[in-house]
Amino acid sequence: MGKLDGRVAIVTGAGRGIGRAIAIAYAREGASVVVASRSQGTVDAVVAEITEIAGIAGEPAAVLGVTFDVGAREQVQRMVDETVARFGTVDILVNNAQGFGTPAEPQASPGYIALEDFPDDAWDHTFRSGLKGTLYAMQAVFPHMRERGGKIINFGSGNGIGAMKGTAAYNATKEAIRSLTRTAAAEWGKHGICVNVILPTMVTDSARSFLDSRPGIEDKLIAQIPLRRMGDVDRDIGPVAVFLGSSDSDFVTGQTVHVDGGQILRP
Ligand SMILES: NC(=O)c1ccc[n+]([C@@H]2O[C@H](COP(=O)([O-])OP(=O)(O)OC[C@H]3O[C@@H](n4cnc5c(N)ncnc54)[C@H](OP(=O)(O)O)[C@@H]3O)[C@@H](O)[C@H]2O)c1
Repeated sequence: MGKLDGRVAIVTGAGRGIGRAIAIAYAREGASVVVASRSQGTVDAVVAEITEIAGIAGEPAAVLGVTFDVGAREQVQRMVDETVARFGTVDILVNNAQGFGTPAEPQASPGYIALEDFPDDAWDHTFRSGLKGTLYAMQAVFPHMRERGGKIINFGSGNGIGAMKGTAAYNATKEAIRSLTRTAAAEWGKHGICVNVILPTMVTDSARSFLDSRPGIEDKLIAQIPLRRMGDVDRDIGPVAVFLGSSDSDFVTGQTVHVDGGQILRP
């Protein structure tokens, strides 16, 4: 018996990093999983991984790969429609995708841009793929969750709370996602929909790129983390996302969950 048997879960940005780890953790717990991300290659790779896990367990893989842009409302709607056509409904939505840079020049992480120089295109791309993509997906799953309840897990960042210098658009979109999360929890609680937001500190391609762009910051960051390490996506975030997606967390909503080794406590 898995903790998510019979549940249908969408994980956006599931091609790599945190999203990939959550998609795999959900599949291991028995969920039907939609691997929804930007690049066909990474989507196919994660679908293949989940198919292999299911094969080893002796079950047919309940997995669907969808390539889409989270910042385009009609593509988000198509992704949710394809999910419902394949699996009948949506029980869990993980809004993990986040783009950086500009549509013309996507970046692996938010680079340093002084607030006074912040260009509109980078600001808009960060908000479209972050705050707006999160909202689009929440609105698209709402008709399916309204009847039977559901779980929505959004992603913020300690950069927002800590006011990391040079990443104003990212900080602002992530704090706006926290506000959206609490508002949705308040409005949709009556439908049995729980909405929470995770603030992670994990080793991923994006985190690697961010740390490498700022020499010396990694040692400083680890020294600030009470548990003295960055998180491992399989060990540290998968289980928390399973908890927030399962009925173990049915009375938890509107919360910011720091999966950061205690980094938020930094002086
Ligand atoms: N890692 C951390 O420590 C950390 C800290 C704070 C917050 N976060 C947040 O946690 C989430 C995941 O972070 P991560 O480090 O795992 O990021 P990542 O390694 O950059 O992975 C992001 C995933 O999202 C996909 N994606 C990007 N733009 C998209 C778009 N427009 N439409 C659809 N998919 C898109 C990427 O696709 P491609 O494969 O095509 O690139 C990739 O698969 C993000 O919301 C991030 O802001 C992470």
